[in-house]
Amino acid sequence: MTLKEKTEKLRVIKNELFALEKSPLFSFRQANNFFPVIGEGSHEAKIMFVGEAPGRNEAKTGRPFCGAAGKVLDDLLAGVGINRAEVYVTNIIKDRPPQNRDPLPEEIACYGPFLDRQIEIIEPRVIATLGRFSMRYILEKFAVPEALKSISELHGKIFSAQAPYGPIVVIPFYHPAAAIYNRALIDDLKKDFAILKNYR
Ligand code: URA
Repeated sequence: MTLKEKTEKLRVIKNELFALEKSPLFSFRQANNFFPVIGEGSHEAKIMFVGEAPGRNEAKTGRPFCGAAGKVLDDLLAGVGINRAEVYVTNIIKDRPPQNRDPLPEEIACYGPFLDRQIEIIEPRVIATLGRFSMRYILEKFAVPEALKSISELHGKIFSAQAPYGPIVVIPFYHPAAAIYNRALIDDLKKDFAILKNYR
């Protein structure tokens, strides 16, 4: 697929998400003048980051990881010499859940297919999951046998998988926001991010 075709297909996804009245989070979005958060970065990225759901800053601007968790992500990327513009950053849930609560199964079911399409358009070689919800979704999607294990067991491990477009690796990371509340996790995150240097 050419870059132009990728960009056009991603635009279709964006338009569908803007009009997604059937989403359980659509009325909350409308009532608060929030935007859906589609994703941002290179449409030819080798590394795709998949977070959980937009927070307030993200829903206000339509940009993923632009608040406090985004600052942690930016610092982690800078620490391994990766420019945010060369990766693609998105979430499994495209609209902000009320009070930033955990995503519900019906929300994951609603938005998951959009993430699936983003993966098939961008064709990343590495899917870096941020947090347990995107970890579980992606590991199950690619039938990784360890999918049901906890993030404390799986973070920083490299799982080979087969995407429709070729072989990929999935690397689970703790969610950057978790490191804001639990500073001990920042060391794990820094150590785990070092793996990404091998996949640029
Ligand atoms: N947390 C997420 O999981 N995603 C964002 O975009 C922002 C915060």
